[in-house]
Amino acid sequence: MSSQNLIHGEWSSKLVFILAATGSAVGLGNIWRFPYIAGENGGGAFVLIYLACILLIGLPIMMAEVMLGRRGRRSPINTMLVLARAEGLSRYWGLLGWLGMLAGFLILSFYSVIAGWALAYILHAGTNSFSGLDAGGVQRLFSDLLADPYRLLFWHTLFMALNIWVVSRGVRSGLEQAVRFLMPGLLLLLLVLVAYAISSGHFGDGFRFLFRPDFSQVTGDTILMAMGQSFFTLSLGMGAIMIYGSYLNRQASIAKTSAMVVTADTLVAILAGLAIFPIVFASGLAAGQGPGLIFVTLPLAFAQMPAGVLFGTLFFILLGMAAWTSSISLMEPATAYLVENRKLSRPMAAFAVGGVGWLLGVGTVLSFNLWSSPIGLTLSLPGGSVFIGGTIFDMLDYLTSNIMLPLGGLFIALFVGWRMSLQSVQDELGLKSVWIFKAWYHVLRFAAPVGIFLVFLKAVNLI
Ligand code: PHE
Ligand code: NA
Repeated sequence: MSSQNLIHGEWSSKLVFILAATGSAVGLGNIWRFPYIAGENGGGAFVLIYLACILLIGLPIMMAEVMLGRRGRRSPINTMLVLARAEGLSRYWGLLGWLGMLAGFLILSFYSVIAGWALAYILHAGTNSFSGLDAGGVQRLFSDLLADPYRLLFWHTLFMALNIWVVSRGVRSGLEQAVRFLMPGLLLLLLVLVAYAISSGHFGDGFRFLFRPDFSQVTGDTILMAMGQSFFTLSLGMGAIMIYGSYLNRQASIAKTSAMVVTADTLVAILAGLAIFPIVFASGLAAGQGPGLIFVTLPLAFAQMPAGVLFGTLFFILLGMAAWTSSISLMEPATAYLVENRKLSRPMAAFAVGGVGWLLGVGTVLSFNLWSSPIGLTLSLPGGSVFIGGTIFDMLDYLTSNIMLPLGGLFIALFVGWRMSLQSVQDELGLKSVWIFKAWYHVLRFAAPVGIFLVFLKAVNLI
């Protein structure tokens, strides 16, 4: 074997992993969810806590999850079973894989509906429907879409069909090309939007909203939301990154590749925030209006900027594609499991997973119209009564990001930090620098699990 071949092989395979993992990470979480959650939680302090969670919890757990995937080389459930057996540990670690698979289905179900909004907006942008609209007009355009369950169902169905198609052919084919032009394109369009936001005259307001922390408003729930967003945006805690870790060549550096993915993801989220909040303030919209935030702010920008039809259409196409490369990673763990254990063909497995996700997604479709009145219960506590509940969408969004993914991450940290032998961890991670290894290992053993646990306690007002 010539050294030329070897070098080329390693490079290519490391690149595939970076592209796949970045494709999974960068998606609606950055452009739709980050601004909407930051807006609801008052901006600055939330953003700062979110960034701290990315660095102290997200990055170390991503390295751990990638490492487990590369060592196990199977669907997350089987990876956990195989690794637990190899380390002489309980079969119950397989439950971590099951938790992840369930979270994957639940996220997929609403993710596809929101991605459907992006598809619907490709059509709006392309047919020049934003032109001449003011803040009230864009809001009406959006609420008309939400009010129509059939239109939402149509776009949800189309998006899910696209997913089934890609996953049934195998995630790797096509993904490389897609992500290669998607990422630069998305960055470029975000920069165009940021430039527009600067010209709007309210860039300073948007910037201050995002980065000037006001800790007096921070509650346990704010911290939980920031932590949840850091898991959601990095695709952590449900096995997506674990299964993509099996793309990774033995010689590639898990630390470096993870750091690149985390950096790219954070950059896209911050740029999205910088594009959106100045428009919010320039047009008198509410920062905390919820999941519709980008669908009412960005159309205003496209309505006013030169070549807005072109930029708007391209933007929503790229957003749809970014959502696509994320949602296929949501489907992959369950699909791989069905292929491994039920001996289904890949297309059959993809169809089954997509079908279940589609059916669950109907609950989210109806959350915005027929079933839009919140369901739940009111608890009377010493400090007053609180309502727990919401629409099906609200509950799925909250439960998966803020509880299931951090719980998955907590158990990944505990497994790698406390149950796997130091020898296996060192071997698989292959970090050359002893110092970086020690720092990572300590953060993973102590800071990350304790942090997650404390945030949980704080959120239910126990501390
Ligand atoms: N990280 C993706 C996003 O930001 C969403 C996702 C979550 C994908 C969990 C896979 C697993 O849009
Ligand atoms: Na993301």
